[in-house]
Amino acid sequence: MIAGMEAGKTQDLIKQAAADLAASSHAIVLTGAGMSTESGVADFRGPKGIWTTNKQAEAQAYQRYERFLNDPKAYWEEMLGTVGSGSDFYRQMRKVGPNPSHHAIARLEQVGIVKSVITQNVDGLHEKAGTQNVMHYHGTVEKLRCLSCGSRFGVDEYSLEKLPPLCRCGRPLKYDVVHFQEPIPSDIMDAAESEAMKCDLMLICGTSAVVYPFAALPAMARSRGRGGSGVKIIEVNAEPTPLTHQGVSDYLMQGKTGEILPPVADEVNEILSQREGHG
Ligand code: APR
Repeated sequence: MIAGMEAGKTQDLIKQAAADLAASSHAIVLTGAGMSTESGVADFRGPKGIWTTNKQAEAQAYQRYERFLNDPKAYWEEMLGTVGSGSDFYRQMRKVGPNPSHHAIARLEQVGIVKSVITQNVDGLHEKAGTQNVMHYHGTVEKLRCLSCGSRFGVDEYSLEKLPPLCRCGRPLKYDVVHFQEPIPSDIMDAAESEAMKCDLMLICGTSAVVYPFAALPAMARSRGRGGSGVKIIEVNAEPTPLTHQGVSDYLMQGKTGEILPPVADEVNEILSQREGHG
């Protein structure tokens, strides 16, 4: 039985979500840190979240972008944990593997139901699970980015011995990760908004939906109406969010993404194979 929801209601909502997905023509998925906790990557605002349990870390995170702008070398020394209380956090994150949540989304993409994934997560786990069309709304630990010319490079293209790493244009590079106070790169922001304005189903998984501008995407889709020619918005999260309370989402599947998304993907496969069977 899936924790957080009575068994009966669980099965009903899984069947409902699968039917909605199978009936959709342009389903997209929005994800947050809750998708990766079952991979051992802590979230931020959940009961065991990094910000919930370590206020000093949150305060430090708010200074990171400013530090890069003022002193890129000091920024890198902190990010690599070679000086002060930095923790090499991002290099550790590259060693983590996807969990059943990520694999379920990849399966829904493989059968042509999910058209794109817009993630706040910087861990690269969607791709590791095989998902092709992923937009990194808050960047990724797998890349470095130049604020001056916008170029991005694989992190393995640089030894990170000589700091700061420099772009071809000569300007210092930062992690592609978008820090607090840093603007979202316009190419990603535009692509995400166009998907929110195009989708007829939005599946929102493992996010507290409180960080903007990402948290504005569901309301953007909702502005195009509900039901019929409108948009179906489904949440999967361990706890209700402002989207639930404000009625932006049509329904919440409350529980663990790793326990809810795989049976939803199974059920979608079932519907699609029956559909093929009936030619
Ligand atoms: N299954 C479902 N929900 C989960 C699970 C799980 N296994 N684990 C945690 N959750 C829920 C938490 O209860 C919380 O509501 O996922 C949500 C995660 O919310 P946050 O920690 O706020 O993460 P997120 O929404 O991704 O944060 C947005 O804030 O700190 C910045 O840049 C960072 O991208 C991040 C952004």
